[in-house]
Amino acid sequence: MVTQYSIAVLPGDGIGTEVIAEAERVLEAVGDRFGIDFAMRRFPIGAAGVAAAGDPFPEETRAAVARADAVLLGAVGDPALDHAPRHLRPESGLLALRAQLGVFANLRPVTVLPALVDRSPLKADRLEGVDVLIVRELTGGLYYGEPRGREGEGASAVNTLRYSAAEIERVARVAFESARQRRRHVTSVDKANVLEVSQLWRETVTRVGQDYSDVRLDHLYVDTAAMRLVAGPQAFDVLLTENMFGDILSDEAAVLVGSLGLLPSASLGEGPGLFEPIHGSAPDIAGRDLANPIGAIATVALLLRHGLGLPEPAAAVEHAISLALEQGARTRDIAEAGAPALGTRAMGARIAGLIAEAQRSRAPVAR
Ligand code: IPM
Ligand code: MN
Repeated sequence: MVTQYSIAVLPGDGIGTEVIAEAERVLEAVGDRFGIDFAMRRFPIGAAGVAAAGDPFPEETRAAVARADAVLLGAVGDPALDHAPRHLRPESGLLALRAQLGVFANLRPVTVLPALVDRSPLKADRLEGVDVLIVRELTGGLYYGEPRGREGEGASAVNTLRYSAAEIERVARVAFESARQRRRHVTSVDKANVLEVSQLWRETVTRVGQDYSDVRLDHLYVDTAAMRLVAGPQAFDVLLTENMFGDILSDEAAVLVGSLGLLPSASLGEGPGLFEPIHGSAPDIAGRDLANPIGAIATVALLLRHGLGLPEPAAAVEHAISLALEQGARTRDIAEAGAPALGTRAMGARIAGLIAEAQRSRAPVAR
């Protein structure tokens, strides 16, 4: 009997639809190679949800993600809705999705691939061997705190930063457990010299750390962390942060690998996981076959490993990505100036082809 998994696919907006088509192509190739049936169904979110149902997180999508084994998302965002009321903004749909799934731990691995060391503006000797896992708290902090909103005539505004010790503890445990699979080092980021929330963060992470005496724990203020992340990224293993700091530091970390278009993420909680590349909808290049699908394809690897518990297919996807890059395949964002570049579809086809090829070369001679 063939195993079947149900994947809710939420392409979203802009380049989201283009990169997700390539992620689906890769999942098909994985299914063929490993004899797994991925039942993928698409549902709208973001501006696409507003267009389809007047809601950035439509009811149909809400119901579908609750039933799925895993959720694969492209990107949300549309400049046409920049000034829409908050409940109609594409980003509100994404935040509601994260909250509904309860995915409090966002894992953002940042690994510099040898083939791309020269694509970063930073010096190569700082980049070799860089392998950081950002663990970002995803369902609390400033993004969700109440009260929030414009006040009075709109001339002032408020957002609320609030964390409970329980919220800090559960994400800290994810960071320590992850560190145990890696180099056993957690760097926790805060602003404890100024913010009470950060003082609670530091106390709580320190207390949780006592359960992990085999893992080294350091604390850095966020400004220092931002500097060290580009000045000496090799020193980091697991970087644990609250929601907003993690959002900022993860875009900064993308500079290490050379392009935001390369980075995947996994958001985990109690129920089905949510898997999305960290890039946005990139309206400036949308619809032109220019986007890099590797972030979305690497996201498929995380979905297989963390969402479905399938480490071998996950490794096959990661191997195909590395191989394509070693063979010189480049999308425009990671190509040298003036060098030829593949479009979104051609890159997706190349990686899917490498997954299928590995299957052919492994097939027994006689059967
Ligand atoms: C990200 C994105 C989102 C975030 C936006 C689109 C709401 O920037 O996943 O990093 O800030 O979390
Ligand atoms: Mn971001």
